[in-house]
Amino acid sequence: MLLKDKNAVVYGGGGSIGGAVARAFAREGAQVFLAGRTEAKLEAVASEIRAAGGTAHTATVDALDAAQVDAHAETVGRIDISFNAIGHNDIQGTPMAEMDVDDYLSPIVTGARTNFLTWKAAATHGAQVILVFGGSGPPVGDYSLGGLQAGLEVLESMRRQFSAENGKRGIRVVTLRTGGIGDSIPADFDGRDALVKSLEDMTMLGTLATLEDVGNVAAFVASDRARTMTAATVNVSCGALID
Ligand SMILES: NC(=O)c1ccc[n+]([C@@H]2O[C@H](COP(=O)([O-])OP(=O)(O)OC[C@H]3O[C@@H](n4cnc5c(N)ncnc54)[C@H](OP(=O)(O)O)[C@@H]3O)[C@@H](O)[C@H]2O)c1
Repeated sequence: MLLKDKNAVVYGGGGSIGGAVARAFAREGAQVFLAGRTEAKLEAVASEIRAAGGTAHTATVDALDAAQVDAHAETVGRIDISFNAIGHNDIQGTPMAEMDVDDYLSPIVTGARTNFLTWKAAATHGAQVILVFGGSGPPVGDYSLGGLQAGLEVLESMRRQFSAENGKRGIRVVTLRTGGIGDSIPADFDGRDALVKSLEDMTMLGTLATLEDVGNVAAFVASDRARTMTAATVNVSCGALID
């Protein structure tokens, strides 16, 4: 097992990305700590992990609140792996020129704030690896991403500086750079099939990464087998994004 005896905190562990990565970490032997706002969502993922023989704990934590993040980190004790996949409060579909400034800034501020808080908690609790989700992407002409892409770019800048400042402490920081993940789009999402098709058409491989694919890559990058990787991005976009 890649992650035997590791403690892994997953913020947003009740969500699609966080849940998938938590399942993969647990499958590889990590003790998983799921943190999020809605206990029922966390418990649903934790139950699946336990049913499969893994170990999972849940805690209600607002990952935008410094005191709550720090108090939770204290209860975990040693944090080997930290992964933040909380929603970024982004508003998509409105052109920038027509957007309210606070709506535009929302994902930038949310992403920077929560990642700052959870990375700081990880660093003060012995972290070996911090995984970031999203990564840089090209501008999109025919769809309005609001402030999401700018928010993900801010995380990339933070990732570079945080890895430089903390490498000597043994902390690696790696971004999973993603195109769309088809099975993370809710089944009842209006226009789902057309969106999945358009995302597939953007890939070189003609297929999208699945949630399980993302979990598998995250588990490898979090493991000691990837001990040489830091200040880096790992591309899980099936060729939709070119490095
Ligand atoms: N799916 C993709 O293809 C893709 C691609 C690129 C980037 N992303 C980004 O990745 C992130 C996660 O995506 P997802 O599909 O997993 O979303 P999701 O299913 O909505 O999950 C997000 C989770 O974050 C939790 N959360 C939100 N605010 C929180 C807070 N302040 N404190 C603690 N937990 C909080 C939510 O819990 P509650 O419901 O209890 O609030 C929810 O369980 C999003 O920011 C998304 O924009 C996704």
